[in-house]
Amino acid sequence: MTQKINIADLAAISEIVHEASGIALDRSKGYLVETRLGSLLRERGVASWAALATRCRRDRKLRDEVVDALTTKETSFFRDPRTFEALTHKLIPEHYERLGPHAPLRIWSAACSTGQEVYSAAMMLREMLGPLAGRRISIVGTDISPTALKQANRGSYSELEVSRGLHSERLQRYFSRDKAHFRVLDELRGLAVFKQLNLLDPVSVRGAGGPFDIVLCRNVAIYFDDDDRLKLFDHLCRAMAPQAVLILGLTETMRNVPRELRRDSFRGVTFYRREPRERAQAAPASRLTSC
Ligand SMILES: C[S@@+](CC[C@H](N)C(=O)[O-])C[C@H]1O[C@@H](n2cnc3c(N)ncnc32)[C@H](O)[C@@H]1O
Repeated sequence: MTQKINIADLAAISEIVHEASGIALDRSKGYLVETRLGSLLRERGVASWAALATRCRRDRKLRDEVVDALTTKETSFFRDPRTFEALTHKLIPEHYERLGPHAPLRIWSAACSTGQEVYSAAMMLREMLGPLAGRRISIVGTDISPTALKQANRGSYSELEVSRGLHSERLQRYFSRDKAHFRVLDELRGLAVFKQLNLLDPVSVRGAGGPFDIVLCRNVAIYFDDDDRLKLFDHLCRAMAPQAVLILGLTETMRNVPRELRRDSFRGVTFYRREPRERAQAAPASRLTSC
């Protein structure tokens, strides 16, 4: 049976997790910690929650496992379809109109979890542009969770996972069946590169590559506090090419928008466009932060 966690031990573990990932666990998250870390505690023979906190402070590998276990990896194919409509009907066509049909297109799925967002973007591009071989397209998926990235890299999904967001035509067209699993075809798999990184660590974020033309950072800022959200948006902004766009989760908004980003929307989907330097410098003083 899983031990109950007390407020002091929860605070100690929360502090460690926050420092390592930005994930903010308040006092109401005791049950979440117990359910997600209970088996790790037992498997490692760690005697108590207090002992786990002590060990995490000197054992970075264990700390990273704790962070991994506490991340919420909820995702699905074509999550929030309106976002993909905005990309298909406005943002990607505008990119090619501005830079020409042979321009590179670099997409960053900044908290990609198990990869469904990356492969949804790849399917969308295949349907918009036809065969992608020879096109200069790259989709970088990054996440802090190594277990999520392992699955993303394999591109292998259960029946339940493909039933969430994929209609049968796409399933047949882009996946091969491998016993109980469905595997993304190499045509799409080849567009994607996955990397582990912490979005709140500026050095780590530089490892994503870029500059990117489209940045998807959906449903991760909700786990951060206000200060870390500011840091996150600053890091994303720095990784964006001029005129690049950033899209957050449909329920997420950015307060204190960096000076370089202009908020806009298409059919109810908010996006942030990185303005050319001169226009950003002339931005009103109410938009104070800068990246
Ligand atoms: C709810 S999922 C969102 C997945 C996908 N973007 C979507 O909207 O469906 C949140 C992801 O953020 C990742 N994450 C949390 N903190 C992070 C950090 N500091 N750096 C990078 N990724 C982080 C988690 O590992 C998790 O996979």
